[in-house]
Amino acid sequence: MLKSIAVMTSGGDSPGMNAAARAVVRTALYVGVKVWGINNGYHGLLEEDMFEMQSKNVGDIIQRGGTFLGTARCRRWQTPEGRMQGFKNLVDRGIQGLVVIGGDGSLRGAQLLSQETGIPIVGLPGTIDNDVWGSDYTIGCDTAANTIIDAINKLRDTASAHRRVIVLEVMGRNSGWLAMVSGISGGAEYILVPEAEYDLDEICIDMKKAYEAGKRYILVVVAEGAGSGKEIGKQISEKTGLDTRVSILGYVQRGGSPTVIDRVKASQLGEKAALAIISGLSDIVFGFDRGNVVSINLHDAVTNKKKLNPEFLHLAKVLA
Ligand code: F6P
Repeated sequence: MLKSIAVMTSGGDSPGMNAAARAVVRTALYVGVKVWGINNGYHGLLEEDMFEMQSKNVGDIIQRGGTFLGTARCRRWQTPEGRMQGFKNLVDRGIQGLVVIGGDGSLRGAQLLSQETGIPIVGLPGTIDNDVWGSDYTIGCDTAANTIIDAINKLRDTASAHRRVIVLEVMGRNSGWLAMVSGISGGAEYILVPEAEYDLDEICIDMKKAYEAGKRYILVVVAEGAGSGKEIGKQISEKTGLDTRVSILGYVQRGGSPTVIDRVKASQLGEKAALAIISGLSDIVFGFDRGNVVSINLHDAVTNKKKLNPEFLHLAKVLA
């Protein structure tokens, strides 16, 4: 059994990271294990920016977006020398295992650390993109989808008032999950995702027909990985002559108080991660499969690409 562990958040922040870190810390303390917090992800680990945590360090954070530990994208971590330095900084403090909460890039960095040094690593999928292989869910995706829905509801009002086409570009990196679930639940006519080809000429012909038949407005949700919202809006305007506006939602999608779903699921995952690493398990990521917590092989999680549920693609077409 490990006596001292550490936790960090890494990569893009996501709502619920605080709940996950809080659960790791309180679970470790509950079973009498020392737990360190590393500030600012791998960058902080290299800078030796870490502190031993008490229960009160994670008080008053479950309701907050962002991450109280801070996060960063760290270039030095991509080098074997950087990772070896990070390992040394852990060993110097008697830290025997590390929980990393982050997206696929952060988990890849964790996997390399474990492979090169043998230190036990447990990952938790923390990203709004919901793109970690092996899990139906990543911490923060629910809050981000709800933020998008809020924007869609507002955009519908103005689109309808002006009889406009509104193109909304949302985040997701190479994944269309956020665009798909928010588009379906927001009633978008078109949802463009990187996982499926689309024909903009055909879409424009359809749009013109719909307007001629009396449609008041059209909403197009574009995943950033499927193309630039600005460019798509420009093409729609040129090809259809319809009054078209583009809205790029941007970083507002990353913030906000986490939803109940994100708080509860992040807490469940945090507890599992702490217990696993304390018991000496390594090279796993905890996620969800059809409502249940599951452990996923870390190597598999970072080398496979998660697919978008094909039923979503069909449903979006049927409901458009
Ligand atoms: O991975 C989360 C995410 O918000 C993506 O959706 C987006 O493409 C990216 O991070 C933005 O990264 P950065 O915070 O480095 O600008």
